[in-house]
Amino acid sequence: MDDVELIKEKINIVDLISEYLTLKKAGVNFKAPCPFHNEKTPSFVVSPERQIWHCFGCQKGGDLFTFLMEKEGMEFKEALEMLAKKAGVVLQKKADDKKDFKDRLFEINLKAQEFFHYILTKHPLGKKALNYLQERGILTEIIEEFGIGYAPNSWESLTRFLLKRGFTHQEIISSGLGVASKSGSYDRFRGRITFPLIDAKGNLRGFSGRVLMPAEPKYINTPQTPIFDKGNFLFGLNLAKGEIRNKKEVVLVEGEMDMIASYQAGFKNVVASKGTALTEGQIDMLKKFTENLSLGFDMDLAGDSACRRGIEIADKAGLNIQVVQLEGGKDAAEVIKSDPAIWQKAISGAVPIYDYYLTSIAKRYDSKKPSDLRKIGEELIPVWAKITDDLVRERYIQRLASFLKTDEKILRVAVEKARTASPKSYAPLLQTTKTADNVVPVKGRRELLEEYLIALLLHPPQESDFVPGFPETLFLAEKWRQLYVLLVLYLDSISFKSTAFNINDFVSTLPSELTVEVDRLYLMELDERFSEDKHWKKELEGVISELKKALIKASLEKLSLEIKNAQEFDKMDTVESLNKRFRDLSVKLKNL
Ligand code: GTP
Ligand code: MN
Repeated sequence: MDDVELIKEKINIVDLISEYLTLKKAGVNFKAPCPFHNEKTPSFVVSPERQIWHCFGCQKGGDLFTFLMEKEGMEFKEALEMLAKKAGVVLQKKADDKKDFKDRLFEINLKAQEFFHYILTKHPLGKKALNYLQERGILTEIIEEFGIGYAPNSWESLTRFLLKRGFTHQEIISSGLGVASKSGSYDRFRGRITFPLIDAKGNLRGFSGRVLMPAEPKYINTPQTPIFDKGNFLFGLNLAKGEIRNKKEVVLVEGEMDMIASYQAGFKNVVASKGTALTEGQIDMLKKFTENLSLGFDMDLAGDSACRRGIEIADKAGLNIQVVQLEGGKDAAEVIKSDPAIWQKAISGAVPIYDYYLTSIAKRYDSKKPSDLRKIGEELIPVWAKITDDLVRERYIQRLASFLKTDEKILRVAVEKARTASPKSYAPLLQTTKTADNVVPVKGRRELLEEYLIALLLHPPQESDFVPGFPETLFLAEKWRQLYVLLVLYLDSISFKSTAFNINDFVSTLPSELTVEVDRLYLMELDERFSEDKHWKKELEGVISELKKALIKASLEKLSLEIKNAQEFDKMDTVESLNKRFRDLSVKLKNL
C-alpha cells in the first residue's frame, strides 16, 4: 500500500471536512452548501462509502487531498505532508523514472508495429486487409515503406504477444495499444488496417486504424499518451520533409490514404492533418521546413469555422497559403486513383487562399442582389480583417471592391472597423475558449447523454444481472469508451458469480484518471423509479437509442455537406452514390 492509500485508510473524509463545514446527513451521503462557490441549496456531497466529495453546482470534487488543496490553497505535496502528520504516517521517498517510462512506450510501439506488419504481409489473417489495400491501388513497396499493418479482429492477440515479450499490462495501457480491463487489458485496435504514426524525427508515437468494411468510426487513433498528441502531429512528415525543402512547398491533405496515394504517385511533399483543423503546433512544425503551404482539400474551407481558424493561425505565422482545387468534392486519394495527372494539375494550379475565398463567394452569391451583398460582407470582411500583412490586405480590399463594384474606401473602413472590433465577436471561431474561474463550461447534449448513460449503468437495480451489449463506439469520448468496456467486464463477472454490484470493487479495477469520473457520476442523483428493474431498463434503452440516432444524424449531416459540394461541381456520379448512402442511413435512423 502506498502513502496516499494508507492515509486515506486512516482518516475519514467526513471527519476531515466536518472540521471546515457543517455536514448534514442525506441518505447514505452527507450534504452542505458548497464552500467553493456561492449557493443557497446545498449541492456539495460527501460520500463516506467512496471517501470522496463532489459539488454538483461548480463541478469541483475529489478526495481528502484535493479538498485541502482547494480549501487551503495547498500544493499536493503540502496536503500530503499535513495529512501524513495527522494520520501518523511516515512518508516514503520515490525515484523519478519518467524518462525510462517514455522509452518503454516507444519500445512497445515498435513491437506492436512488428506484429501488425507481420499479420498484414505474412499471415492468413491479414489476407482480406491486404486485398483491400491492393484494391485501393497501394503498392507492396509502399506498404513496406510506411509500415502499414493489420490488427486482427480479436480482443487479446496483440496483448498476449506483448505480454510474452515482457511488457506489462500497465505499459500496454499507457501506450494506448490496450484498454484497461479487470483482467489487465484488451486490444484497442481490432479488425483494422494500422498506420504507424511516426514523427519528423522517425519516432513511432502511435497508430491509427481504418476499418475494412463501412463502419463507424471509420478511423480510430492512439489516444493522448505521454508520447502522442494528435494536435502536434502530422502524418507523413518523416518521409516528406526532404521533398518539402526541395520543392519549397508543402501540400496538406486530410487523410492518411490521401498522403500515401500522393506520395506513391511521386508527389512526395505532402503531409496529412488526419481530419482535424490545423493547430498552432502543426503550423510551427511545418514552418521549420517551408513557408509555402498548399491546402490539398477544398471541402468547405470558406464555410467551416475550424478551417478558417486554422487558416488565420497559418496567416499569422507568416505562411503563404494556397488552395488546391479538386473537382466534384473528391479527395486526393480518389483523384489520384482515377488519374494522377489531375492531381499534378491541381497542385500546380493552386490559388492563393484569398482568391479562393473570392471565387467561392462568386459561386454562391449574386453580388447584384442587395441581400446577397450583405451576406458577402458578413462573410468576407471578418476574414479580410484577419489578413496580417498590410500590403496583402490592401490588395484584397481592392479586389473585393472591384468584384462588388463598390467604393474601396467604404470597404476599407469596414475592414478596419472589424480589425479593431473586440475579439469577442469571434469567440465561436476559437477552438479553445478560456473560461473564467468558477464558470462551468456548458456541455453539449450528446456529452450529457453519454454521462447519463454511464450514471445509469453504475446504478443497476438490486438483483439485476444485466450486461449491456452495445459497442463501446457508441460513446464519442475516449474515457467513456474505456470505462464502459471495464464496466461490461465487471458486470459480466458479477453476473457469472451471482454477486451484487459493489461500487468499491468496481472502482478498485480502474485506472486512477477514471476513478474521478466514476465518483462524480456515481454521486449523480437518479430518479427513484430506476431502482425498479423494468423502469431502469426502459430508461437505458431510451438513452441508447438516442445516442445511436445522434451518431447517425451526425453522419447524415456530413453526407449532406458532401452532396452539396458534389452538386456544386456537377459531379452526378458522386451525388448518386452519396445519395444512396444518405437514403440507407435515413432508413436505419427511421428504424431505430
Ligand atoms: P478513406 O475512406 O480511407 O479514403 O479515408 P478518408 O481520408 O477519405 O476519410 P475522411 O475524408 O472521412 O476523413 C479524413 C481523415 O479524418 C481520415 O483519414 C482520418 O485521419 C480522420 N477520420 C476519418 N474518420 C474518422 C473517425 O471516425 N474518427 C477519427 N478519430 N478520425 C477520423
Ligand atoms: Mn479517401
